Amino acid sequence: MSALILVNGEVRDDCIQAGIEALRQGAPAIDAAEIVAREVESDVKDHSVGFSGLPNILGEVELDASIMDGATLASGAVSALKGYLHPISVARQVMERLPHVLLSDAGAARFAAEIKAEAGDLLDDEAKAIYLKRLNAVGKDWGLEIRDWSEIPNLQSLISSLKIPLSELVVRAMRYHEGGDTMNVIVRDATGHIVSAVTTSGVAWKYPGRIGDSPNIGAGNYADDRYGAAACTGVGELTIRHGTCIRAVLGMSHGRDIDQAGRETIHDLRRLSDPINAWIRLLLIDRNGKVGGYCTRAGATLKVQTTEHDAPEIATCEHVI
Ligand code: GLY
Repeated sequence: MSALILVNGEVRDDCIQAGIEALRQGAPAIDAAEIVAREVESDVKDHSVGFSGLPNILGEVELDASIMDGATLASGAVSALKGYLHPISVARQVMERLPHVLLSDAGAARFAAEIKAEAGDLLDDEAKAIYLKRLNAVGKDWGLEIRDWSEIPNLQSLISSLKIPLSELVVRAMRYHEGGDTMNVIVRDATGHIVSAVTTSGVAWKYPGRIGDSPNIGAGNYADDRYGAAACTGVGELTIRHGTCIRAVLGMSHGRDIDQAGRETIHDLRRLSDPINAWIRLLLIDRNGKVGGYCTRAGATLKVQTTEHDAPEIATCEHVI
């Protein structure tokens, strides 16, 4: 069987091509997964991942990422990483260099500096404008108005002086949540070895320090060559509570075919209470390389490309009721 790459449908075709080309040149699945994820982390048009990702409620971008090797179940992850352009590469190095799985916040940044990961400013003008528009819309009831990014260093003291409860500001900002896609990439090489990777700036306007599902192995990412792999996009509080990715892979380990496992997993997730009317998309691959996508809201898509094809195919994920 030829090698393949599976991603969420928003990923640009040229980001996938970079991984396909690497696989054609004989790169291992983990290199191809990292390459695709890094391409998306650099995509200025994707405001849910890496550079130009939308910030937390105080205007700081906090990045989450994880990578999992389906042959060994080795995993690496970072959460709330600030100031580094490629969290997926830092996550991979956590897996390869440390006796740990997940580093967070200052510890993750310390490690990123130690391995000489690429540091950089994560915000562009478009992301700043999107963030400020919503912040001002929800903050105006308290008299909060930020006209220019140069005022952001004073935001915390302004919030304190106006006696705005930060948690209430977050709840209001997230009430109008429109998506925030996150990036999933699952690579299966020609020998059947699978690597899954997830990278995101997390939900926008989140409370500082909030960690989503993307760096949580079992929630937003899981791979096991014996059965298949799973990765999620959407609001991670649901999949953390549910253990969505491990459930889907366990479903296949218990003899479900990929569609049964995907449908049962999403159907079960739908019973969770959900104060912000979030959505979830689950991408799956089975041990034979069959792929599927399953979602709680109609319209989500996936892309898949084998090394034998010149372009990815796009497919609609199954809307599971
Ligand atoms: N799925 C990404 C997040 O919830 O942050």
